[in-house]
Amino acid sequence: MEGKGETKPGINTRLAHAGHDPRSFHGFVNPPVVHASTVLFPDAATMAARNQKYTYGTRGTPTTDALADAINELEGSAGTIVVPSGLAAVTIPLLAFLSAGDHVLIVDSVYHPTRRFADTMLTRLGVEVQYYDPLVGAGIAALMKRNTKVVFTESPGSNTFEMQDIPAIASVARERGAVVMMDNSWATPVHFRPLDHGVDISIHAATKYLAGHSDVLMGTVSANERCWAQLHETFLTLGCCPAPDDVYQVLRGLRTLGVRLERHQKSALEIARWLEGQPGVARVLYPGLENDPGHAIWKRDFSGASGTLSIALDGGGTKNAHAFLDALKLFGLGYSWGGYESLAVHVSLRDRTVTKNDYEGPLIRLQIGIEDVADIKADLARGLAAARAAGDGQEA
Ligand SMILES: Cc1ncc(COP(=O)(O)O)c(C=O)c1O
Repeated sequence: MEGKGETKPGINTRLAHAGHDPRSFHGFVNPPVVHASTVLFPDAATMAARNQKYTYGTRGTPTTDALADAINELEGSAGTIVVPSGLAAVTIPLLAFLSAGDHVLIVDSVYHPTRRFADTMLTRLGVEVQYYDPLVGAGIAALMKRNTKVVFTESPGSNTFEMQDIPAIASVARERGAVVMMDNSWATPVHFRPLDHGVDISIHAATKYLAGHSDVLMGTVSANERCWAQLHETFLTLGCCPAPDDVYQVLRGLRTLGVRLERHQKSALEIARWLEGQPGVARVLYPGLENDPGHAIWKRDFSGASGTLSIALDGGGTKNAHAFLDALKLFGLGYSWGGYESLAVHVSLRDRTVTKNDYEGPLIRLQIGIEDVADIKADLARGLAAARAAGDGQEA
């Protein structure tokens, strides 16, 4: 997008135009949605040599290329695969770089299905799985083994939002020859570019902010030069390719990602500050808050925050968490985040094996949508009042 001597365009300019040159397709602003399995060849020799850009639907189309090219531009990556869900974007790179007898280090605050994949399938395939404290930083050195092949990070952590010192972890892991992966779904490439900080593979549940409308499942995995060939080869081997209409929807979502994130961040920060002063809230877990323990790292490495955070209620248990959720009228009760609408869920930390979970009460994860802040606050106030009215709830 930039010519010689020109300055790099701003993030919203890149989001608006990355991945598709209208002149490449009759001037249409958006790329074509190519529904394809078979691709025809002009003659037998071309077919035998597979000597043309597209050869079969599973190997990519102009639609998947448009999204992959856009993500490459945003992530600064050598290549990106587009896969049918965020979970596939986690499992495929792990399968690509781990073999029987290898050791993998995974952050304890990882998205739960990542842990399930590691504890079941990776373990069955003979991979030794170990979890580490999200605050480990350069201390990861003590956990690295001769056969540690992958260090899997996610920052901030799922549900508890601990910031990891990614540059410190990546520098130790890379020095010891491990591949460093990061689930970057929360920050999006707008707020953090993992490959610039020593990470080899950046993962997105594009289902979340990239798609942004709660109507598509999609994942992207972007690799640097040293890891791209192996990642791409695994993608081709597994045949895990997404449907073109969904790919198109994610590309469409990307165009407005910057403006949506600006709104999510502004509202989430205002609401997080307000929540800190509300009766019944013991803690707000959001690295964008000045007094969050991860704020310094967030400020050093990230250029912004998205709209997903958690609150710890001040005492009580499941009964209070359910009273909070059941009183909400605007927030939907749903497991995802990153869409335009506000969502809430009572989160469980029972799967954690390394980190302490000494929160004052139940944790509720909130996705702050783009609705009006006054309405969101009123709904949360309703929830908090109901949680308090539910009593001490310790039995639950
Ligand atoms: C951090 C993180 N990574 C990956 C995923 C998986 O995304 P998907 O729902 O598209 O499988 C999620 C979904 O909640 C997530 O929160």
